[in-house]
Amino acid sequence: MVDRELMEKAREAKQFAYAPYSGFRVGAAVLTKSGTVYTGCNVESASFGATNCAERVALQKAISEGEREFLALAVAGDAEMTTPCGICRQVISELAPNARILVSEGEQLRVFTAESLLPHAFGRKDLL
Ligand code: THU
Repeated sequence: MVDRELMEKAREAKQFAYAPYSGFRVGAAVLTKSGTVYTGCNVESASFGATNCAERVALQKAISEGEREFLALAVAGDAEMTTPCGICRQVISELAPNARILVSEGEQLRVFTAESLLPHAFGRKDLL
């Protein structure tokens, strides 16, 4: 699957955002090594800290189906350019360290590495 197709899946997933508090919708789509795509949207809670971002929903759906290797993760938000939040960067660095992170900037596709989004990340290596 090419980058633009994965971004289109993220855009489609955005329509399911449950964001009654912020009104800010985000969709994400993660591509596994085996070629399967899992999508996610942000799911907010009245207890704001319980809100889950689109990226984590997509990754958690995939992990919970037994997936462990990810090639790319696309993010599409309501802003001109929506990059993963800090918590998502931590989770991406752990679960999808080698994935190409695709972000749209208008019509352009920007590609980031997990390392560039969260340099010197705390992770597994620090605990084991
Ligand atoms: N949000 C995401 O889903 N992903 C991001 O990368 C940025 C923020 C969501 C969380 C919350 O529902 C809303 O956007 C506003 O912060």
